[in-house]
Amino acid sequence: MQIILCKSTHDVGRRAADIIEARLRQGPTVLGLATGGSPALTYQELIRRHREEGLSFSRVSAFTLDEYAGLPPAHVQSYYSTIRREFVDHVDMPLERLYTPQGDAADLNDEAARYDRAISAAGGVDVQVLGIGTNGHIGFNEPTSSLQSRTRVKMLASRTRADNARFFEDEAEDVPRLCLTQGLGTIGEARQVVLVALGSNKAAAVRAMVEGPISAFCPASALQLHPHATVVLDPAAAADLALADYYREAQELHEQLL
Ligand code: PGA
Repeated sequence: MQIILCKSTHDVGRRAADIIEARLRQGPTVLGLATGGSPALTYQELIRRHREEGLSFSRVSAFTLDEYAGLPPAHVQSYYSTIRREFVDHVDMPLERLYTPQGDAADLNDEAARYDRAISAAGGVDVQVLGIGTNGHIGFNEPTSSLQSRTRVKMLASRTRADNARFFEDEAEDVPRLCLTQGLGTIGEARQVVLVALGSNKAAAVRAMVEGPISAFCPASALQLHPHATVVLDPAAAADLALADYYREAQELHEQLL
């Protein structure tokens, strides 16, 4: 796991965007896109590079991580609508190559299996963008999710529904109870993952992910098994790390050698 300790919250967006841009410059790219507050700065920076520097997404396909069950794609809080509003509609990525699980599918189990097949058919994800929940979830893989899970139906933890109530006029009861989410096994197959975390409310989850044991109790700790995982943190999210000095030294050395 590579840990990047940023000096500011804005730096997190820039560093994560650098990783995505580097992959885009290699050729056609399959991105895995997270929704939520954490990656917003990354998407804003990519949009800026598209507008001001001509960075093109014309050869990008993208799969979102998850979707609320029961919400049609057109719902304002569906992750399909959200990722369009926050990223895809502002760049030159062809909309027909944006894929989300269909939260209103008649058979959610079939839809989950179909989604995994669609990711494989596209050749797998090149770079997966991730946030982390205050309870250590990635996607909607809540604590005790199988470390080898595939895309499937999950029930949201009450903490997640409370955290996401801000998108539903502060009514946790209005946050759907079920979702479709890529599994930890699915996410682990991405060739590269970039997890961004911002703010002091993520510090404990970040520590458990990076320095705790690999455990289904902290689903993000599954990334310790990933051969190419980068964790990009602002100072508040990194505040509980025991080995911060080591990560900083490794980062400086890495930058000198580049
Ligand atoms: P956030 O959520 O980016 O909105 O903080 C992250 C997550 O719950 O995965």
